[in-house]
Amino acid sequence: MAPNPVPDHVPPEMVRDFSLFTSPGMLPTPNGDPHAAVACVHEGPPIFYSPYNTRDGQGTWVITRAKDQRRVLQDAETFSSHRSIFASALGENWPMIPLELDPPAHGVFRSLLSPLLSPKRVLVLEPAVRERAIALIKRIVASGRSCDVMKDFAVPFTVSIFLSFLGLPDHRLDTFVAWGKDLLHGDDEKRQVAARTIVAFIDELAAVRRKEPADDFMTFVVQAKVEGRPLTHEQVRGVGVLLFVAGADTVAAALGFDLAYLARNLKEQEWLRSEPDRIAPAAEELLRAYPTVQIIRVAKKDIDFEGAPIRKGDYVSCATMIANRDPTEFERPNTIDLARQENRHAAFGYGPHRCLGSHLARREIVIGLEEWLSRIPAFRIKESTAPIAHGGHLFGIENLILDWS
Ligand code: HEM
Repeated sequence: MAPNPVPDHVPPEMVRDFSLFTSPGMLPTPNGDPHAAVACVHEGPPIFYSPYNTRDGQGTWVITRAKDQRRVLQDAETFSSHRSIFASALGENWPMIPLELDPPAHGVFRSLLSPLLSPKRVLVLEPAVRERAIALIKRIVASGRSCDVMKDFAVPFTVSIFLSFLGLPDHRLDTFVAWGKDLLHGDDEKRQVAARTIVAFIDELAAVRRKEPADDFMTFVVQAKVEGRPLTHEQVRGVGVLLFVAGADTVAAALGFDLAYLARNLKEQEWLRSEPDRIAPAAEELLRAYPTVQIIRVAKKDIDFEGAPIRKGDYVSCATMIANRDPTEFERPNTIDLARQENRHAAFGYGPHRCLGSHLARREIVIGLEEWLSRIPAFRIKESTAPIAHGGHLFGIENLILDWS
């Protein structure tokens, strides 16, 4: 039976016809701007109930102010991260780690994994990241004066970094790109098949690294001990799957939105090209203006929050795209100002689960933009094409055909 999108305890006056999945501007739309479509929620109350606000059609409370989102994300005692999003698509119930763990287990696994994604470690990875960006852009330049940014650059760039993290060669790139595409954009059947394939792949790689250790991430995970015990098969799988889900499409989507913005704003494009030191702060402003993740928590107990009767089991949405356009947090939130100062944005979340890959993500984005701007002359959206942007749990952009002829 389909879940009831509005439970009985939700007062009808707190229900709003708004959803990150189905509202105008959220469905894939040529030249759509789902981030701008979100801004309307700030005219309303600090919290409301949104029916159909998840992929499977469930309702969620929506928190509209950045400061209230921080309150929710900070309070893991009341708001749980345990959802098994990936596993439930397979009819299973294991968490992605550490994303879907609550304290105290969360902290133990987070401490285990954080050295692998620390700023120091990212410095070591950087030359390989730059090399991949350069190789892909050179191929694009050699093949003409136009390309599909997502297909030819952003997706293969970020997936190949995931592969190198796992210690795998690039020749499996196309297979991984196809799995990622089916997982995020396929119909239910394709998504299930992709999810099973990814799980089988992670399980198999873990088995290989147990027998033949290498100097890579998966070897680290299979050899790691938590409270004196090695990780179980399920825990190894939970970590491996998260890395794939968390790292690849998020960065690709960010690069897509950034290049779409620059393609439409030639003056700013030229400014960054001539002053590359401006790229890092500009990338922060673009992360603020075009964040991609809707964070969901599940209430562990009943709580009245800003007048809303949240009950145990209710979903609570802390959408980063809503926090980042909050006028009580940012001056002129809907204006993109690449020189904006004091940019305390929420793109990477907040609190104990704040993105562990943010250092790597930032370097991937900045390096991707640096290499793109230094190798591709003034570019625009190709005439008679229209990029398709969409909402959902992970905002994204497709069909971004750029032209520099
Ligand atoms: C622009 C790119 C990215 C964005 C916008 C992003 C966003 C986020 C957000 C909002 C969270 C918090 C989720 C929550 O609280 O439930 C998160 C968690 C996480 N992200 Fe990222 N992420 C990005 C890139 C990456 C990359 C490249 C990696 C790793 C290679 C990564 C690894 C993780 C991990 C491991 C967590 C879980 C942290 C925990 O639960 O303690 N992310 N990310």
